[in-house]
Amino acid sequence: MCPKSKGTFYITTPIYYVNDVPHIGHAYTTVAADVLVRFKRLEGYQAFFLTGTDEHGQKVEKAAQERGVDPKVHCDEMVKRFQSLWRRLNISNDDFIRTTEDRHKKVVQKILQDLYDRGEIYQASYEGWYCIPCERFWTEKDLTEGKCPDCLREVVEISEKNYFFRMSQYQSWLIDHIEKNDRFILPPSRRNEILGFLQNPLEDLCISRPKKRLKWGIEIPFDPDYVTYVWFDALINYVSGIGYSSDNPRFSDFWPEAIHLIGKDILTTHTVYWPTMLRGIGLTPPKMVFAHGWWTVEGKKMSKSLQNVVEPNRLIDTYGVDALRYFLMREVPFGMDGDFSHATMVHRINSDLANDLGNLFSRALSMVIRYFDGIIPVPSSLQEIDLRLQESSAKVIAQLPGQMNDLAFNKALITLWEIVSASNKYVDETAPWSLAKEEKDRPRLATVLYQTLEALRIIALLLAPFMPTTAEKMWTHLGMESNLWEQNLEADGNWGGLKPGGKIVKPTPLFPRIDTTKMEKKI
Ligand code: MSP
Repeated sequence: MCPKSKGTFYITTPIYYVNDVPHIGHAYTTVAADVLVRFKRLEGYQAFFLTGTDEHGQKVEKAAQERGVDPKVHCDEMVKRFQSLWRRLNISNDDFIRTTEDRHKKVVQKILQDLYDRGEIYQASYEGWYCIPCERFWTEKDLTEGKCPDCLREVVEISEKNYFFRMSQYQSWLIDHIEKNDRFILPPSRRNEILGFLQNPLEDLCISRPKKRLKWGIEIPFDPDYVTYVWFDALINYVSGIGYSSDNPRFSDFWPEAIHLIGKDILTTHTVYWPTMLRGIGLTPPKMVFAHGWWTVEGKKMSKSLQNVVEPNRLIDTYGVDALRYFLMREVPFGMDGDFSHATMVHRINSDLANDLGNLFSRALSMVIRYFDGIIPVPSSLQEIDLRLQESSAKVIAQLPGQMNDLAFNKALITLWEIVSASNKYVDETAPWSLAKEEKDRPRLATVLYQTLEALRIIALLLAPFMPTTAEKMWTHLGMESNLWEQNLEADGNWGGLKPGGKIVKPTPLFPRIDTTKMEKKI
């Protein structure tokens, strides 16, 4: 089926610093974007999902120098760690942008030249403090006890000529835009934070670095002695990645539909620098910037020095991809901080996945195999209890789109589990194993098992964005011949999509129960 498109949808993740080892924080944003885009595709949207890597700047230059390799060679090696993790995590991005690609560099230079030609960029002398690791300028009053207010490391005093973008002139426009669009910055606490920040005068943005200090960057087109400030370069990926100034039809399909998912630490760059840059270029701001919270690990901040960085690859090895995706989306409301611990992860897997979902799936399918040779039975007249199951499914389907629009992933999963619980309760109450004892109850047995399988089909359909591999397994075991990824929520979410006469595949456990004591030893 080719449902009529409901419109376009564009989602992005931050582009990750290529130097970092991908950790649970990176996986979190990327999985969230993937879940949302898969849900939107299911709803019938023409969707585009962009992720990528941020490859310029001092840290990359330094790391490459230390290894004695060219920075581009260094990036080419490092980027693979992200790309292979996204493949393992089943991330369905439509493109992957690297800021060292020509298609991106050209757009950055074009934007710089346009802004310069229109007098939006000027040269001036800068005197103040600079934090090398953060690559940021600070004024005397910004410093915390003489140190960088962000990372608390030493800053150096510098005086140099640089190029500045006239960001300050857009301050009142930006405040007005934020006030008029209450979904531009979410959650609301982050919106208030930025409105508070904007009560102080906004300064112009320094967008260059002299080459004598940093060579690894995009050359400023009107002054070969300078490269572009890494944030000015990086933010532009959101438009260069969808064809700004190279593929106009595609660009105008997706801009300004963009939803940028970010972590709370990069809120100012995305909600102050970026919209004003766009305004300077003459483009509309993105539809939404949603800042999620941070993960701590077993109660502590994740850091290389504490050696507690949670590597998604290890979690996938231990628990499996879908259990990790489920945990990330279910455990913490998107927007709040959360804590990762093996104990909570194991608890979630055992209770929600192995007990609730896994048991329902294996007992329903096993009964169809035992009582009907694996052939999906034909239902007959429905009773009150059968209709209640259908109603609970319809109720869930009606609620999910709104929750997903609010990026309330955990609420959506709680809602979805209402069908899982309702189905388990239904099986307990109708007791098909008792019906199987009497030949006269066979029509009733057929109805009960058909209803249960149909609930499982709908669960698989709704679960697909969250747990693609599990959903596919459920789908094929239910004998569904259609492609799960071509389904449409409105049409295929209706009760009755499962065809009697189809053949069930013998189930294997979806999620084997984890033995906590064995797991503790392994960890
Ligand atoms: N390169 C910039 C983004 C440029 S976007 C135009 C950058 N990269 S990053 O690799 O350092 O961080 C990427 C994202 O990871 C940020 O959104 C950040 O919030 C997120 N996280 C880093 N540590 C995190 C946790 N402990 N928990 C959750 N997210 C975290 O910033």
